[in-house]
Amino acid sequence: MLNGKKVVMGICGGIAAYKAADVVSRLKKQGAEVDVIMTRSAANFITPLTFQSLSGNHVVVDMFEKPVSWEIKHISLAKKADIFVIVSATADMIGKIANGIADDMLSTTVMATKAPVLIAPAMNTNMYENPIVQNNIDKLKKYGYLFTEPAYGRLACGDVGYGKLAAVDDIIDDISVILNDKKDYKGLTVMVTAGPTIEAIDPVRYITNHSSGKMGYAIAKCARNRGAEVILISGPTSLKPLRNVKVVNVLSNHDMYDAVMNNFDDCDIVVKAAAPADYRPLKYSSQKIKKDDDNLVLYLEKNIDILKELGERKGDKILVGFAAESQDLIKNAKDKVLKKNLDFIVANNIMSKDTGFKSDDNAVCIIDRDGGIDNIPRMSKIELADIILDKIKSLK
Ligand code: PMT
Repeated sequence: MLNGKKVVMGICGGIAAYKAADVVSRLKKQGAEVDVIMTRSAANFITPLTFQSLSGNHVVVDMFEKPVSWEIKHISLAKKADIFVIVSATADMIGKIANGIADDMLSTTVMATKAPVLIAPAMNTNMYENPIVQNNIDKLKKYGYLFTEPAYGRLACGDVGYGKLAAVDDIIDDISVILNDKKDYKGLTVMVTAGPTIEAIDPVRYITNHSSGKMGYAIAKCARNRGAEVILISGPTSLKPLRNVKVVNVLSNHDMYDAVMNNFDDCDIVVKAAAPADYRPLKYSSQKIKKDDDNLVLYLEKNIDILKELGERKGDKILVGFAAESQDLIKNAKDKVLKKNLDFIVANNIMSKDTGFKSDDNAVCIIDRDGGIDNIPRMSKIELADIILDKIKSLK
């Protein structure tokens, strides 16, 4: 969440300017205060009224317009910003900033700000690849300006290549990382496992469970935002890969075991939010099993318990497990903390509605080695992830 954070957004004249409306809307939903400055050309593509309605603030276009309240607008906006974001930055605006030109409201305010500046370029591929534009971008990077790099794709002009405005998700993601005040995980490496595993029966069928990966991805994302190096071992999910995180995709419990063990030495903290399958078919059938009989007997064998094995090699690493229980939540989870040699376990009752598997929210009990219990009420998995990371930090 970006509660109370002050974002000043600059919008330039390009066809991608309309996508900036989504960025403003998403920032507002996360609790940020947003002020918008548009260039005159931007106002030809999309009206200031759109941004005024979305931001709830007067939108400035003209450097010399009559002030709404008495203040020198380019200076007051420059000072109030916690972050300055330019969405759909044109070659022209990048060139102006890189060369110290301040001749309109947006370029003047950027020049006057001491806040971090994040630039999301959008332009035709040939323009983007032009060495002069690239040179200006490099120059700005050297001065500490940050970029959400444009994506590859089909542009409005029909050309295909780099220059398409980055996905709104990626822009919001970069803003969240920059505005995250807590950087208490800097210097630490956190390994997170997420999602289910699948255990193949034949080329068509497999055994799995309902894990979506949302809980593990939320922990990985928050740890990254707090400055950690993150290794995410992910079972098959439909979630968007996390940026600036080392992601290792796996299918089976066996793959997850290998990936976890290969990375274990490099990390300080392991959080096992994944739901690996406990059993796999004793024999994999290389051909599709025919449905000739009314009954089919499938023999299963136990998978390696990855977390238990980590517990045996724990040393001074912090080890956190999850417990998915349908009954005797506290008792079963307490047993697992000791059996798997964990620092604490996060226990969720997977029978309750709207929490646990698949949902965006969770409600859990955090249980220590000494049996201490913290009841955490229902909240978003992202908020819960921060609480789990706070708890880990208190042990370090
Ligand atoms: O993915 P979501 O849809 O967001 O749902 C979140 C979740 C419910 C999957 C998650 O919060 C959760 O509870 N994960 C643990 C699920 C699980 O496997 O629980 P368990 O009680 O069977 O296992 C206990 C611990 O041992 C877990 O940390 C698990 O990762 C680990 N384990 C289990 C089996 C195995 N073969 N190897 C393991 O390491």
